[in-house]
Amino acid sequence: MKRLLSGIKPTGDLTLGNYIGAIRQFVEMQKKYESFVFVADLHALTIYNDPKELKKRIHDILAIYLASGLDPKKTTIFVQSENLYHANLSWVLECNSYMGELSRMTQFKDKSKGKNGEAISCGLFTYPVLMASDILIYDADVVPTGIDQKQHVELARNLATRFNNRYGETFKLPEPIIPEEGAKIYDLQNPTKKMSKSDETGKGVIMLLESAESARKKIMSAVTDSDNKVIYDPINKPGISNLLVIYTSLKNKTMKEAEEEFANSKYGEFKSKVADAVCEFLEDLQKKYREIVESGEIPRILDESNEKVEKICKKKVQEVFEKIGVGR
Ligand code: TYM
Repeated sequence: MKRLLSGIKPTGDLTLGNYIGAIRQFVEMQKKYESFVFVADLHALTIYNDPKELKKRIHDILAIYLASGLDPKKTTIFVQSENLYHANLSWVLECNSYMGELSRMTQFKDKSKGKNGEAISCGLFTYPVLMASDILIYDADVVPTGIDQKQHVELARNLATRFNNRYGETFKLPEPIIPEEGAKIYDLQNPTKKMSKSDETGKGVIMLLESAESARKKIMSAVTDSDNKVIYDPINKPGISNLLVIYTSLKNKTMKEAEEEFANSKYGEFKSKVADAVCEFLEDLQKKYREIVESGEIPRILDESNEKVEKICKKKVQEVFEKIGVGR
């Protein structure tokens, strides 16, 4: 069985973008892959987080994974920092990475610009290498993510190839898996910008744990255009196209089906249908989320996972250390 690995970092409250671009894929793909899905808490440290809030978000992501349908019998769910080997391998890979290639990472360029003299952590620069380590340590075959992480998975492939050429066959080359639709869900107020958990205003962002009522308001006031035709055209109609992607993703419909359904609808009516779909989805997810939190089953799931992941990672790191010549 081929192996899947992916993760989410707890730097903000998870959004509908995280669900549609990532979690939905994990749930679907766990049927066919031996899956490893984790909370990338070490990745959150690239920026300052209030320690209490960070811990709360880690728990929230775990509960959201389970509430979304990740099945611990099929998917090994774990927290990155509870396994010391990821950071260990990351150092070795960092020593095999170049400043030039890390400077070309678009996420680094975006996140480091406009900081007005504010200090940028070295971690923000090297974090794609930690991500490569997360992936390569498991010999993952596939890495499902939204489009914004594709370049990082490609870096992981490059680092694996470089290491294999230098030291002999050690790492598998992972394939990024990007959904055809929903690879990038856009901000409802600014539909050319990614819907992001680190957005400051949150007006165009739907959070997975926010109330249905508040989500409905955001959808109803989403920016559209003056054309009044519900057609998928991301270049000329980014707002409507974004809402269509949200609708089709949550309702499991094709774009053609949705366009036919709304062929005679005005925008208000269309938005109201999208809002219904989002509210229904959020209410169902949040109900399951509460049940999972109350069940208290998360610690047991993590303990079982840790035993499994530690074995895999220890073996890989020992193999790497042997090949590079460190240790006695
Ligand atoms: P992160 O936490 O920013 O995002 C988690 C996942 O959600 C996807 N995503 C989106 N997809 C569609 N539309 C959006 N608006 C949207 N916003 C986020 C992301 O593409 C991602 O799949 N570095 C990673 C976490 C990570 C990781 C890994 C992922 C660490 N190690 C190893 C895969 C494999 C990150 O910051 O994702």
